[in-house]
Amino acid sequence: MRNVRAKALLLAGVLSLFVLLLCKDFIDNNIFNLEEDAREDKHQIRQLIQKKPYVYSWPACQQNMSAANITGFKTLPQHIQDFLYYRHCRHFPMLLDLPYKCGGADKSAEVFLLLVIKSSPGNYDRREVLRKTWAKERLHNGVWIRRVFISGTTDTGFEKERLNKLLKVEQREYNDIIQWDFHDSFFNLTLKQILFLEWMEQNCPNAHFLLNGDDDVLAHTNNMVEYLQGLKDNDGSKHLFAGHLIYNVGPIRESWNKYYIPVQVQESNSYPSYCGGGGFLLSGYTAMVIYNMSQSITILPIDDVYMGMCLAKAGLSPASHMGVKTAGLHIPSRKHDVYDPCFYQDVLLVHRFLSAQLYLMWNILNDPNLECGPKKNLSSTKL
Ligand SMILES: *[C@@H]1O[C@H](CO)[C@@H](O)[C@H](O)[C@H]1NC(C)=O
Ligand SMILES: *[C@@H]1O[C@H](CO)[C@@H](O)[C@H](O)[C@H]1NC(C)=O
Ligand SMILES: *[C@@H]1O[C@H](CO)[C@@H](O)[C@H](O)[C@H]1NC(C)=O
Ligand SMILES: *[C@@H]1O[C@H](CO)[C@@H](O)[C@H](O)[C@H]1NC(C)=O
Ligand SMILES: *[C@@H]1O[C@H](CO)[C@@H](O)[C@H](O)[C@H]1NC(C)=O
Repeated sequence: MRNVRAKALLLAGVLSLFVLLLCKDFIDNNIFNLEEDAREDKHQIRQLIQKKPYVYSWPACQQNMSAANITGFKTLPQHIQDFLYYRHCRHFPMLLDLPYKCGGADKSAEVFLLLVIKSSPGNYDRREVLRKTWAKERLHNGVWIRRVFISGTTDTGFEKERLNKLLKVEQREYNDIIQWDFHDSFFNLTLKQILFLEWMEQNCPNAHFLLNGDDDVLAHTNNMVEYLQGLKDNDGSKHLFAGHLIYNVGPIRESWNKYYIPVQVQESNSYPSYCGGGGFLLSGYTAMVIYNMSQSITILPIDDVYMGMCLAKAGLSPASHMGVKTAGLHIPSRKHDVYDPCFYQDVLLVHRFLSAQLYLMWNILNDPNLECGPKKNLSSTKL
């Protein structure tokens, strides 16, 4: 009897100590937190208590064997044959998801600028430097910038497994990767884009604006926020699609070219106007219109042209913003350093930047002592 009571007492003691430690931990964690951390905590608690709203678990899509009947199929390069076999596939199993990146669909209007960065599994060093520089999740000018990397899979066998594991490990630390189980290749970028828009419709439909771009650019996200805030008549609920405008072009018919599109893929000799895929800005509204249009437009493997096709079908136009330099920056003379930060303080986006230059440039651009003369007004888009 005494033995049982002693055990009960001991148990009660251990339990209360445990509760005490928990409380202490809770208090320690909460007293000194900044706003951002508090938000992260809430975010995590929500993840724990809410169930996933939607499970993406599509079966693998079957090859379309009839594609081989297309005239001249055997003469086409391998990657184009692959494309034609799988052109109809629009759903792939999800490997990594971020259902609460925007706080859930209902809260997603709290995201002002969502950075959507195409990145292949192997590009770890690029992701790492972007997380520390322009793609850092933060409050800027009173509004939230959030980040997602979108990825497929590369390689096969052990190498594929290892790269998937790398993304899993990164996800555990940064919570910023959406990955589907399709082959991440140049000709599957349109697929990646559509899969992202589908994700957005489910999980982040009310984000105000998006930057859609590559992982090898310098995106001046501070300037972007300021530019977008300056659009007095558009809070993201109206049309916006701005970048490096390309028009009056059509499919390249030379088979050695990276952008080769044979008539078997597109018969027409012209493309609609579009913005170069290195990086462009769009409103949440326009993203959802594009997603709607994409449902009834056959996939064209060149992703930026495909976005142009979706806009055209909706009767909307892409616009040119002179701050987006996807073809690089024009430096007036050889005497100038191409990495002189003063050339970059007014840009929205420059392609392309390697990790070390990017890390340095972003730090210099954010140095309050940087002296370059007055900043240009970025609020003017011109067609
Ligand atoms: C395509 O070719 C296969 C044999 O290679 C044939 O069975 C099929 O009927 C052909 N036509 C279509 C439209 O699939
Ligand atoms: C398969 O390919 C053929 C030839 O291009 C095409 O006519 C057919 O619509 C495709 N089937 C599907 C399911 O996309
Ligand atoms: C696109 O991804 C699918 C699924 O992994 C793959 O079967 C197909 O070959 C890929 N297409 C290209 C052009 O890489
Ligand atoms: C997209 O389509 C859905 C369903 O057809 C519709 O409810 C929604 O308003 C559309 N969104 C836009 C932005 O066009
Ligand atoms: C920038 O230009 C826009 C329109 O051209 C104008 O409305 C705005 O006041 C300007 N902003 C500054 C800071 O000069």
